[in-house]
Amino acid sequence: MKRDKLKVGIIGCGQVSRVGHGLAIRADKRAVIAASADPDDENLKSFVRKFKVPGIYSDHKEMFKKETLDAVVIASPPWLHREHLKDSIDAGLHVLCEKPLATTPKDIKAMVRMAKEHDKIVQIGHSKRFEPGFQRIKETGQYRDFWQDLPDEHLLALLPPRFQGGVDKASAGYFKKSRD
Ligand SMILES: NC(=O)c1ccc[n+]([C@@H]2O[C@H](COP(=O)([O-])OP(=O)(O)OC[C@H]3O[C@@H](n4cnc5c(N)ncnc54)[C@H](O)[C@@H]3O)[C@@H](O)[C@H]2O)c1
Repeated sequence: MKRDKLKVGIIGCGQVSRVGHGLAIRADKRAVIAASADPDDENLKSFVRKFKVPGIYSDHKEMFKKETLDAVVIASPPWLHREHLKDSIDAGLHVLCEKPLATTPKDIKAMVRMAKEHDKIVQIGHSKRFEPGFQRIKETGQYRDFWQDLPDEHLLALLPPRFQGGVDKASAGYFKKSRD
């Protein structure tokens, strides 16, 4: 039986939607980006042009009112995630919310409560958890020692193959700093 494609809406058409979600949804023949919302006209226009998105909105609430969506990607700035999750849940949608979940413990607790009461999927985009290098670290069970002792060149090897050739030592240094 042929199934209809999953209709996805995007809230926030910045960097991560452009280089991540847009490409991923386009590559997956089971889904389609039906609509996008962003108050930044330039980002919105360049995103809908690149991914040939038919529904174009400056406000996600308007998008929810006018479109019949199955799921939504929340890729707005982190301090807006709580509000956008609430609106997405009220619209009855499956949700993929970008990391970080929110910026305060209060918001995070409220969002976890909302997600538990929702009868659809709510997932946070902790994509690193699914990458083999990071899964290997988890298997060792020794996160702290692992990070402290790891030489920079080995840190690079943990990155997905497409980044391994293009990430320089400075980026590895950033990882090293941020693990302290
Ligand atoms: N860029 C990455 O590689 C990356 C990686 C992991 C996680 N993330 C996460 O993804 C989220 C977005 O990051 P980004 O890098 O794409 O930021 P960005 O600043 O490039 O894009 C954010 C977009 O959200 C839009 N926006 C602002 N207010 C909005 C609103 N009320 N409704 C709809 N859209 C609104 C902005 O106009 C902008 O186009 C953040 O939570 C970030 O932490 C980004």
